[in-house]
Amino acid sequence: MNLTNATALITGGSSGIGYAIARTLVESGAKVAITGRHRSRLTDAEQALGVYAINADVSKEEDVKRTYEEVLSEFGHLDILVNNAGTGVFHELVDQDLASFEAVMATNVTGAMLMGREAAKHFATRNSGNIINIASTAALRGAPKGTAYYASKFALRGMTECWRAELRKHNVRVMLVNPSEVVTNFFETAGLPQVANDSKLRGEEIAHAVKSILEMDNRGFTTELTVFATNPHD
Ligand SMILES: NC(=O)c1ccc[n+]([C@@H]2O[C@H](COP(=O)([O-])OP(=O)(O)OC[C@H]3O[C@@H](n4cnc5c(N)ncnc54)[C@H](OP(=O)(O)O)[C@@H]3O)[C@@H](O)[C@H]2O)c1
Repeated sequence: MNLTNATALITGGSSGIGYAIARTLVESGAKVAITGRHRSRLTDAEQALGVYAINADVSKEEDVKRTYEEVLSEFGHLDILVNNAGTGVFHELVDQDLASFEAVMATNVTGAMLMGREAAKHFATRNSGNIINIASTAALRGAPKGTAYYASKFALRGMTECWRAELRKHNVRVMLVNPSEVVTNFFETAGLPQVANDSKLRGEEIAHAVKSILEMDNRGFTTELTVFATNPHD
């Protein structure tokens, strides 16, 4: 697809990977809307990137419906959904509390489903569209302390395959991107230390991957793309 004047909605576009994707798509000529829960971060991104910012929580159905009302009123139509908003907690199974498990599922799984559902209705009507789900290498294999986060990303990968099977007949390309570790606020929010150094991935590499798979001619699409740092060291 040609990104010039294309319209894109990126959840969690006020920080990290979503922010980098928003900047790259704007630089490619697209009109971009982002969502997030914290108003101040959204305002900063709106001013820095020239995006349309929507204060909305993906896990709340009424927020999701309002998001699409606002995007369609602003842009007229939507070409691209990037389901990027995500969060994590990391506990041994025996220490995993119900509330934080459900909070991760609410954003990473329920939120992605609600956003994907509303996009699918619009895309089926238009007989065109693109959904990129940002999962993780945590969607590919398990690890200690991964119960909540890894399960949520396995679920997102599973939903991606279901949506792809349902929506291909409407010319909708459903794609999955699996970043390995990226230097963002994600770890601090999850209460984990992250050692940042120049060998680790930045949001820019993931944005490059997203732009590349979108720009393929609509005749074809990349089902799944995994991005690793070449030689990361702590
Ligand atoms: N960093 C990594 O190493 C890594 C690796 C693989 C995959 N990923 C995935 O990449 C995605 C982006 O993560 P990141 O590393 O860029 O983290 P980040 O810097 O913490 O950004 C997360 C973004 O999601 C938003 N968000 C969180 N919960 C939300 C909700 N319920 N509704 C709406 N927006 C919400 C946040 O804004 P508010 O808090 O203001 O809502 C923020 O804009 C996530 O899905 C993550 O799982 C990250």
